[in-house]
Amino acid sequence: MGTPFLHLSSDQWIEGGVVPDRRGDDGPFDWVNSMRPRFFDGFHRTIAAMAAAGNDLIVDHVIEYPSWRSQLAELLNGLDVFVVAVVCDLHELERREQHRGDRRPGEALAHLRENGIHDLGPVDYTIDTTAGITPATVDAVTTAWRHRTAHSAIFDPRPSFYDAGDVFDRYSAHRGGERYRSANAVMEEPAVLAEVGNPTGLRVLDLGCGDAHFGRHLLTAGAASHRGIDNSQRMIEAAKNLLAGTTGRVQLASIEDVDVEPDSVDLITARLSLHYLPDLQPTFAKSAKRSCRAAG
Ligand SMILES: C[S@@+](CC[C@H](N)C(=O)[O-])C[C@H]1O[C@@H](n2cnc3c(N)ncnc32)[C@H](O)[C@@H]1O
Repeated sequence: MGTPFLHLSSDQWIEGGVVPDRRGDDGPFDWVNSMRPRFFDGFHRTIAAMAAAGNDLIVDHVIEYPSWRSQLAELLNGLDVFVVAVVCDLHELERREQHRGDRRPGEALAHLRENGIHDLGPVDYTIDTTAGITPATVDAVTTAWRHRTAHSAIFDPRPSFYDAGDVFDRYSAHRGGERYRSANAVMEEPAVLAEVGNPTGLRVLDLGCGDAHFGRHLLTAGAASHRGIDNSQRMIEAAKNLLAGTTGRVQLASIEDVDVEPDSVDLITARLSLHYLPDLQPTFAKSAKRSCRAAG
């Protein structure tokens, strides 16, 4: 590749003894919920720091969550990045997992099916390694890298599920056309409104606001302001139409990326949207702890 590259991978840190040995699934430290998020936060910052210091890097990493991807996009902004997705068929994946023997059985499949690691957003190049890694595979990747454009796909957002095909139209027909008969209208919406109580004077942040039907309702009921966040273009267009003539505002953004002024809202709603997030922790930490006023 013409220049010496450094190889960086979180496994090197684990193998190098950075993480103390776990004595059992539960201890002596909470790896999954506490240490692991901090560990990878630091790993991502290290990638950016090494690159910013002028090092050329080959980074071997599994980007597991949308929040990891957006953090990397933020940290790597301005750097020359080329993202290669390395894929292989499922039998081969399981064979390799068994062969290396240092992974929880089924971990690789869980990355694919539960984390959806290959659906988190566009990449610059995909290489299929089912048949193994040959000189031709290496040549394909390096040729694609040499022909890269100045803009890496890591900086592009993941297209919303609701913007694919006719999903938005079918969803709207169900939620809108049958609004007065659907289970949402009859059971779920009254329960949510009862939970919200009287919104008079409240500044509302609605995460995954959809067409802002709910936001408009809150404004009509006296909410002081409404700001909706949604990552679907179609939803945002519909929301703008529905909120025309009101003070309600919407923004095309992912819930995980939303950054709101501290103490700027009184009520955060997320109706039927949080189940789309594979990792709730960063969203709660940002939205709930930062933007919402104390006791909000
Ligand atoms: C079932 S709809 C609910 C819409 C609205 N909250 C309601 O109650 O009518 C889920 C909404 O969440 C949005 N959504 C899903 N994942 C999202 C994400 N990561 N960031 C922002 N919006 C998201 C979808 O685009 C969709 O509009």
